[in-house]
Amino acid sequence: MDVIRRIEDIRRILLKLKAEGKKIGFVPTMGYLHKGHMSLVERAKKDCDVVVLSIFVNPLQFGINEDYDIYPRDISRDTQLAESAQVDYIFYPGAKEMYPKGFSTFVNVENLTEVLCGARRPGHFKGVTTIVLKLLNIISPHRAYFGQKDAQQVTVIRRMVRDLNIPIEIMTVPIKRERDGLAISSRNEYLSKEERKQATCLYESLKMAEKMILQGERKSEKINKVMSKSILDHRLASVDYIEIVDSRTLKKIKTIKGKILIALAVKIGKTRLIDNLEMEI
Ligand code: PAJ
Repeated sequence: MDVIRRIEDIRRILLKLKAEGKKIGFVPTMGYLHKGHMSLVERAKKDCDVVVLSIFVNPLQFGINEDYDIYPRDISRDTQLAESAQVDYIFYPGAKEMYPKGFSTFVNVENLTEVLCGARRPGHFKGVTTIVLKLLNIISPHRAYFGQKDAQQVTVIRRMVRDLNIPIEIMTVPIKRERDGLAISSRNEYLSKEERKQATCLYESLKMAEKMILQGERKSEKINKVMSKSILDHRLASVDYIEIVDSRTLKKIKTIKGKILIALAVKIGKTRLIDNLEMEI
């Protein structure tokens, strides 16, 4: 496995492989790899001949008061993990390589980015779509893999790819969880022992909502209240948002019907965690 730092180098290597007829799979990440990222790699390995994983903590998608500076980074550990998962290339550019002086072009997907996490993290999705489009242009894979963990992110990326006619297939991989249900995330690293225990409340509240819906409840408001109460029963938890939305449009729905997404963001101590569950009624 090679670690490539320059855009022109990865382009040259991949152009050659594509000319040989190899199918390229791409997994974009911000590093500090965990089992969630590795499940994307596994899928890519199954589908493609060559797997490229990118590691870039994208400054553009962090707000000024967010965790860019302290976001966990460990390239030597990441390299080992990627190697053992048989990743073929790591693309690991520096910030200057991705955002040279004078950089001034951004991608903005409207509407879908104005709700859920987008409403609470202004500019976040503009940062995500801009870097993802750049990465897709650099790697130019046949398929790119994203996790359902970030449900809004993958919905926004799919829309960008459709609207801008990007000839790449976007694949969504299910959420990988810890044994107790907590969705695996690099940010779980921030949790103290006690916070880690209480962090299971996100998944528990989603399962509660699922159960209510399976038992016939159709009012979003009622489900929302039960979820909220179950989370606030945890001393260290505070709700950022809990929303039940149409899976396709991400618009709030009052009555449960069709393909829905139950999404939430909860702060456990100072750490903001997200999770979601998709259902079809
Ligand atoms: P990052 O948070 O590192 O996540 C990289 C990819 O791994 C995303 O597609 C994310 O949804 C997926 N992922 C994370 N945890 C997962 C889990 N528990 N189960 C399944 N998939 C999981 O998302 C980003 O980076 C960035 O926004 C990026 C797309 C790389 C753009 O900078």
